[in-house]
Amino acid sequence: MSHSTPRPPLSPIKDFKIQDGVPSENMDSAYLLFWKTFARKLKIPLGSQEKAMDFLRRSISSRSIVSATSRSGQLLGVATYKGYNPNALNEELKHLFATYGKIGGILRGILLSQLDHQPKAGQMMVESICVDESARSQGVGRSLLGYIKEQALRQGVEMVILDVIKKNERAHRLYARLGYRDLKRHSVGILAPIFGFKDSIRMGLRLQPQ
Ligand SMILES: CC(C)(COP(=O)(O)OP(=O)(O)OC[C@H]1O[C@@H](n2cnc3c(N)ncnc32)[C@H](O)[C@@H]1OP(=O)(O)O)[C@@H](O)C(=O)NCCC(=O)NCCS
Repeated sequence: MSHSTPRPPLSPIKDFKIQDGVPSENMDSAYLLFWKTFARKLKIPLGSQEKAMDFLRRSISSRSIVSATSRSGQLLGVATYKGYNPNALNEELKHLFATYGKIGGILRGILLSQLDHQPKAGQMMVESICVDESARSQGVGRSLLGYIKEQALRQGVEMVILDVIKKNERAHRLYARLGYRDLKRHSVGILAPIFGFKDSIRMGLRLQPQ
C-alpha cells in the first residue's frame, strides 16, 4: 500500500472565479461590501446605511458589474463599469428621487456629481472596485480589471478610464502596473471634509489608437 503525502492546500490565488454579474445569493453582500469600502466617501451624500443600500440597489442594477467568488461561494470582490450613455444623468436622478425624494435627490445629486464622470464615446469607465479585506493581495483586483479590459477590447473601446484618490497609493500602484497612465488631476476643493479626500487622479489605459 502506498502512502501519499498530503497535498498542500490550493493557493488561494487560484481559488476564485471571475464572472459577469453577481450571483443572486451574493447581491446583498455586494452592496454591503461596496458600502463598507466607500462609506467614508459616500456617507454624507448617501446618508444612513439603510438609505444608501436602497439607492445602491437601484443604481448598481443599471450598471455593468463583475464579481469574484471563492470556491465556497463567498463574494470576494466586485467592480462596476459603464460605457458612454447620453441618458446616464437622467437615469441617476431617477434613482436618487426614488430613494431620497425630489429635493433630497437634487441636493445629493449635486454632491455626487463631484465624484461622478460620464465616459465619452469610445471610452469605458471603471466606476468602483472593491475587494473584501480578507481577500486582498491575492490577485482578485487585478483579475476583475482584467475582465473589464477584455470586455472593452471586445467592444472596440479605445480607452478604459478610472478615478483614484491621490492618497490611495496602493490602488494607484496596481493600476500603473496594469498599464494605466495618469491623465489629469481633479480637486473637490472645499468639499474635501465631506468626502474625506481632496485630490483624485484620472487614469487611462489606452487600448486602440485614438
Ligand atoms: C485596490 C484593491 C481593489 C486592490 O485589490 P487586490 O485584490 O488587493 O489587488 P491585487 O491583489 O490584484 O493586487 C494588489 C497587490 O497584491 C499583490 N499581489 C497580487 N497577486 C499576488 C500574489 N499572487 N501573491 C502576492 N501578492 C500578490 C500585488 O503585487 C499588489 O501588491 P502591492 O499593492 O503591495 O503593490 C483593494 O485593495 C481594495 O478593495 N481596496 C479598497 C477600495 C479601493 O481602494 N478601491 C479602489 C478605488 S479607486
